[in-house]
Amino acid sequence: MAKHGAHTVGLSIGTSRVTCIIGEPSDAGGGVLDVVGVGEAEARGLRKGVIVKPVEAVESIRHAVEAAERMSGLEAEDVTINLAGSHIMGFNGQAIVAVSGRDHEITSEDVRRAIDSACAIQLPAGREIVDRLPQEFIVDDQDGINDPVGMIGARLAVKVHIVTSPVTARQNAINAVNRSGLIVADMVLEQLAAAEATLTEEDKEFGAALVDIGAETTGLVIYQRGAVQHTAVFGLGGSHFTNDIAFGLRTPIPEAERIKRASGCAYSQSLSEMERGEPVEVPAVGRTQPRQLSRQILCDILQPRAEEVLMHVADEIREAGWERQLSSGVVLTGGGALLGGMTEIAEQVFDAPVRLGYPERDRFGGLIEDIQSTAWSAAAGLALVAQRAQMVEARSGARVRGASGSLSAFVSKFRNRFSSIF
Ligand SMILES: Nc1ncnc2c1ncn2[C@@H]1O[C@H](COP(=O)(O)OP(=O)(O)O)[C@@H](O)[C@H]1O
Ligand SMILES: [Mg+2]
Repeated sequence: MAKHGAHTVGLSIGTSRVTCIIGEPSDAGGGVLDVVGVGEAEARGLRKGVIVKPVEAVESIRHAVEAAERMSGLEAEDVTINLAGSHIMGFNGQAIVAVSGRDHEITSEDVRRAIDSACAIQLPAGREIVDRLPQEFIVDDQDGINDPVGMIGARLAVKVHIVTSPVTARQNAINAVNRSGLIVADMVLEQLAAAEATLTEEDKEFGAALVDIGAETTGLVIYQRGAVQHTAVFGLGGSHFTNDIAFGLRTPIPEAERIKRASGCAYSQSLSEMERGEPVEVPAVGRTQPRQLSRQILCDILQPRAEEVLMHVADEIREAGWERQLSSGVVLTGGGALLGGMTEIAEQVFDAPVRLGYPERDRFGGLIEDIQSTAWSAAAGLALVAQRAQMVEARSGARVRGASGSLSAFVSKFRNRFSSIF
């Protein structure tokens, strides 16, 4: 297979699906990624976003990546993958350091020291910091600074959003990818990757909450003033809806999944009288005859679950203090957002404007029609983040690679990834 350096690979290893996007920088420029290969496979061997059966997970990764390779005629080697799992936690830290140089000009070394200092926290055994996202720098009394390098000052303060995860979750993901014959170039918190594909700069600036509803986990990220202010992961997702249908209607899980996708609705008021009365055929467990139920009954099962999942997210947003500060509202993405009526019920729960988040057309070209679904946001965002990093690397001539890259690579690494922050 052809193997030329410019392509990047986004690989989202989810609980229900592994999705892979291979992209190349578009001739149109502007940081647009041309999608040239798309692959997906049913995910096996994961629970709540983490790998529990590596052999099965490796198979799923291979299937998804091979499909994308076949479509693009390119070989995947370095891949950027998602950090996921219900045990991931985010919190904010801060620190102040004295600017070291005699001329008081802030260097990237000062920035690194400030960030290191903000992240020098005692973690429970078995946990590690997996991402450090600077929110804002303050030079002496001047706040709201994105990139202080080159400024003159005596004191440099930084606010950082710190993401932690169980060590084993990251290691298992890297191992599975390695065993699939690939190298992890970088790992990005899944909802952050989805946000890179779906949110606009205005959303991030004026305030938005992105909610990535996966199969067994739901990720939240809140942006304001162009930076990540809050993240959280909940152990709830689309499979809970499926289980409710299976249990409530006494039908096998695969049938419940099919019924959910074909006729499910999370908000009965978004259906007309006629739609509510529509018959839904429900195959029974065992040999009994299928039954016919109305869609209203399906709504009665799904709506309380949707309210529960979204209330968890709304409570988190309120407790974090961002409830009244999200001018761009809430953006739902991930496969779970495809359930009928989700946007409508979410508008009720959040009391805010809600829209679905797809890979945005201003950032993606090529086979974009193949990924016009909320279920592709994470993989698309991962490929895009990888491309941005590659472009900055190419420009600076620096190599910043490897998931366990040295600390000194940190500053330039998140600069590369989230160029909008700096
Ligand atoms: N059309 C649909 N309607 C309702 N739910 C859907 C639809 N398509 C996918 N889903 C649900 O989305 C979830 C998977 O979302 P995805 O983002 O792919 O998850 P993950 O990243 O956790 O593998 C599953 O629970 C699935 O049932
Ligand atoms: Mg996902």
